[in-house]
Amino acid sequence: MAIERSTERVVDINDHEEDAEEQVFEKSLRPTTFSEYIGQERLKTNLKLSIEAVKKRNDGTTLDHVLLYGPPGLGKTTMANVIAHELNANLKVTSGPAIERAGDLASILTNLQDGDVLFIDEIHRLRRVVEEILYSAMEDYKLDIVIGKGPAARSVRLDLPHFTVIGATTRTGALAGPLRDRFGIIHRLEYYKLEEIQQIVSRTANLLGKDISPDATELLATRCRLTPRIANRLVKRVRDYADVNGDGVIDKKITQEALDLMEIDEFGLDPADRNMLELMLDNYGDRPVGLTTIAALTGDEPTTIEEYYEPYLLQLGLLERTPKGRVVTVKAREHLKKKK
Ligand SMILES: Nc1ncnc2c1ncn2[C@@H]1O[C@H](COP(=O)(O)OP(=O)(O)O)[C@@H](O)[C@H]1O
Ligand SMILES: [Mg+2]
Repeated sequence: MAIERSTERVVDINDHEEDAEEQVFEKSLRPTTFSEYIGQERLKTNLKLSIEAVKKRNDGTTLDHVLLYGPPGLGKTTMANVIAHELNANLKVTSGPAIERAGDLASILTNLQDGDVLFIDEIHRLRRVVEEILYSAMEDYKLDIVIGKGPAARSVRLDLPHFTVIGATTRTGALAGPLRDRFGIIHRLEYYKLEEIQQIVSRTANLLGKDISPDATELLATRCRLTPRIANRLVKRVRDYADVNGDGVIDKKITQEALDLMEIDEFGLDPADRNMLELMLDNYGDRPVGLTTIAALTGDEPTTIEEYYEPYLLQLGLLERTPKGRVVTVKAREHLKKKK
């Protein structure tokens, strides 16, 4: 079980490598309108207003470019879909690592139509040469390309349709200043409130055609790291457990048993999280540990630690970031029942 979870983490930050079944599952649960999209009220209010304004003007101007950032699984891709849907626009989907050459981006851009939405996931992973082409495309709807080589080379400027870029990233810090500046709407997705996660849990159970009791919904919601993607996964696991070990109904007892089997504790931590905190404590006690050292201890990539494990542990106050590295807090020590 632990190993299974830990591979899911890596998959999480590399959406393009996600396995097919998981993608179909996520897609089937993905809200497509503002009213179905639970929580993130401030973001929704702002976007609704901007979208309304575009529709009202109806003069060929498009929605400002939108940058969404925040930890994995909070609904960035989902929101991109909602925006396109609410605009009645076509959505083209790509990602930073998928655009290898400047020419790849040029062909994506020249195939767009007026009003289209271009979603660029993991936009912080765009290559520099590709990024530079995007600057003028986003700013002036122009594409600068060089034709030919050497002394005969000449640069031409093509007009592009008016489109909207929606960029998603787990790390705004990793985004070059000039690229950031080209987004008119920049918004951070926050962890969900407990009531919102409860709504997502019961919505998902419903969509899976399952009855879930209110106390089971409450229990499950506390274990989801306030993250919709994890909520969906846990509902699915508990559903499977209920089908095999119960009469199919998801009640509190079945839910608790399934959580115990998955070794998910009261904070929503799984064995991989606890393992990381324990390794840090055992090797460094309350001294700060550098990111690469943590990665070496757990055998993960530093970016996986930074983008996946760490945000929720920081949010919970189990980990602290200091200039010298990450420190495991007293709260975490108590949670893991460690003595000093
Ligand atoms: N606000 C929301 N309301 C309901 N479900 C959501 C919401 N946000 C995300 N989800 C669910 O969580 C899953 C993961 O969301 P996703 O948009 O892929 O996250 P991100 O792109 O930020 O990693 C989606 O499949 C969707 O079903
Ligand atoms: Mg995504």
